[in-house]
Amino acid sequence: MNYRRLGKTDLHVSEVSLGTWQVGGRWGSGFDHQNAEQILRQAIADGVNFIDTADVYEAGESEIAVGRLVNQSSEEIYIATKCGRRISPQISEAYTPSILRKHVEDSLGRLQVERIDLIQLHCPPTEVYYRPEIFGLFEDLQREGKIRHLGVSVERVEEGIKAIEYANVTTVQIIYNLFRQRPADYFFDLAAARDVGVIVRVPLASGLLTGTYHKDTTFLDGDHRHGNRDGEWFDKGETFAGVPYELGLEAVSRIKALFPELPNLAPLALRWILLRDEVSCIIPGVSKMSQLDSNLNDSQGIKIGSDQLAELDHIYESLIKAHVHQLW
Ligand SMILES: NC(=O)c1ccc[n+]([C@@H]2O[C@H](COP(=O)([O-])OP(=O)(O)OC[C@H]3O[C@@H](n4cnc5c(N)ncnc54)[C@H](OP(=O)(O)O)[C@@H]3O)[C@@H](O)[C@H]2O)c1
Repeated sequence: MNYRRLGKTDLHVSEVSLGTWQVGGRWGSGFDHQNAEQILRQAIADGVNFIDTADVYEAGESEIAVGRLVNQSSEEIYIATKCGRRISPQISEAYTPSILRKHVEDSLGRLQVERIDLIQLHCPPTEVYYRPEIFGLFEDLQREGKIRHLGVSVERVEEGIKAIEYANVTTVQIIYNLFRQRPADYFFDLAAARDVGVIVRVPLASGLLTGTYHKDTTFLDGDHRHGNRDGEWFDKGETFAGVPYELGLEAVSRIKALFPELPNLAPLALRWILLRDEVSCIIPGVSKMSQLDSNLNDSQGIKIGSDQLAELDHIYESLIKAHVHQLW
């Protein structure tokens, strides 16, 4: 495992880290603590030292599972969690320092830790980024020893650009992958100039970029890939990175033709992201053990030639860009 600096935090994190939205099993299947424990244990054994969760993942079950394993581990493992999405309705006026404070304190309880290594504002409404008192709350929490660092998880590039104006924002979590390339044009340089850590989520476009799906693949009713293709539940950019499913399959079949030796494109898709030095880590999510090995270990050995890189750019430019580039 390689480790990278997480911006101006004092943390060095595994470049392939772990997202835990689905660590308890496939979305929509209920939370299986045994599944979560196996995945977390193996990830840590393989060198993962940074785990992303959120208070809303499986109504807190993900935080409980992550906290339990991290507390049992003899390694130093950093927990990144998130706050804000329990607020309803999701409008700026409903965001207050006191509600967010309560939610952070609830996370401390579920995680069973005294201090959260990285707390991230979880895709709040855009107006929240223009409210300094919200960011001030996290200075208080830091002084009180309840959090170590503040980050934001953003939907749009412009939200990331605004968020890093606040000196206490040390990381930005953003979608960047073969199907979502705009952050490289407008955000990575700025983040590097301010020494802000870049955490890349949805690196596999919700699994689409693995090349293991086809037009008849079905997803459970409670899976956002079944119910959120047009943004019915939350921002549609979180589902398949916002790419229309059938179009994504077409692009993936062209990527497969470029890498005929790969039975699963996940290692390639992850390695492509890690070619960018501005990226601190990626946090692919896995719902079962077999996916973990492919993401953590197979991605290390992938080589991408310059002709292949050019063709990957061409696939994005010609097929995908018109559907996503200006939306986020
Ligand atoms: N707003 C936010 O802040 C936000 C939003 C989304 C995600 N996140 C974080 O980012 C993490 C990653 O994003 P994500 O999970 O949405 O998307 P992702 O990592 O792009 O895709 C994850 C899905 O891809 C499939 N998969 C993963 N590895 C595989 C492999 N080697 N072979 C075959 N299939 C594989 C699995 O699907 P199956 O379950 O179908 O097997 C898995 O559920 C999340 O876990 C979460 O921690 C944050």
